[in-house]
Amino acid sequence: MKIIVFNSSPKLAKSNTQVIVDAFLEGARGAGADTESVMLAKFKIKPCTGCLSCWVKTPGRCAIKDDMAELREKYLGADVAAFATPLYVDNVSGIMKNFMDRLLPLVDPHFEMKPDGVTGHRDADGHRPALGLISNSGFPEQSQFAVLRVLAGRMARNMNVSLAFEIYRGGGGILTMQNAMLAPIVDGYKALVAQAGREFVQLGAISEPTRQKLEQPLAPPQIYIDNVNRMWDKLIAKRENA
Ligand SMILES: Cc1cc2nc3c(=O)[nH]c(=O)nc-3n(C[C@H](O)[C@H](O)[C@H](O)COP(=O)(O)O)c2cc1C
Repeated sequence: MKIIVFNSSPKLAKSNTQVIVDAFLEGARGAGADTESVMLAKFKIKPCTGCLSCWVKTPGRCAIKDDMAELREKYLGADVAAFATPLYVDNVSGIMKNFMDRLLPLVDPHFEMKPDGVTGHRDADGHRPALGLISNSGFPEQSQFAVLRVLAGRMARNMNVSLAFEIYRGGGGILTMQNAMLAPIVDGYKALVAQAGREFVQLGAISEPTRQKLEQPLAPPQIYIDNVNRMWDKLIAKRENA
């Protein structure tokens, strides 16, 4: 099984999202998967212009010349392609939205009525990877991902693929913090995500008990809020004293 994850955080090595991606792929590799992690911020991805050349003039080929041709090849080469994104304004990051829009050449333009009576695109010819979604947010609650949970299902539907797994982490800001007190919490969470990656490869899905554990808070929300506010005060004071 080939699993590829596209992370759309602009923070590269400092990305909290990437901590989750790395742990998931480590677990998946341990169970025998072939894995790849791609930082979209290292690639040139222009926004879709809506010209629809890729559907009409040059089917399957985008008119924009940038790195998306290479990224689409990577995407098509996987059995499972996961989109990993920081939560930005309750949604995916702008980089991720551009990436998603630019997958349009892989979609068949024709409309058809689906069994549930709602219109979607016809199945495209050829292999399309199943979809995964990984995200983390600054706010601590799992309810912060309400929009992404809906979006995950809608994306899978739009692309006529199955939704393979979803991992959401409220309060993900602590994942890259170098703090001895937080280290055991972060290490425990990484081990849990690695377990999810292993299960996904071995069982074809993340088990229900693991899914439930992934939804547990990393720390009681009020403790998290107090710590975050102390951090903001410190950073602001540092700037004022500079
Ligand atoms: C432009 C912007 C918008 C954000 N919007 C939200 C938001 O709506 N809800 C939230 O909980 N966190 C929000 N955050 C915080 C990020 O989700 C959080 O810092 C996350 O850990 C970043 O992940 P990364 O390090 O992988 O980029 C936002 C951050 C930025 C920069």
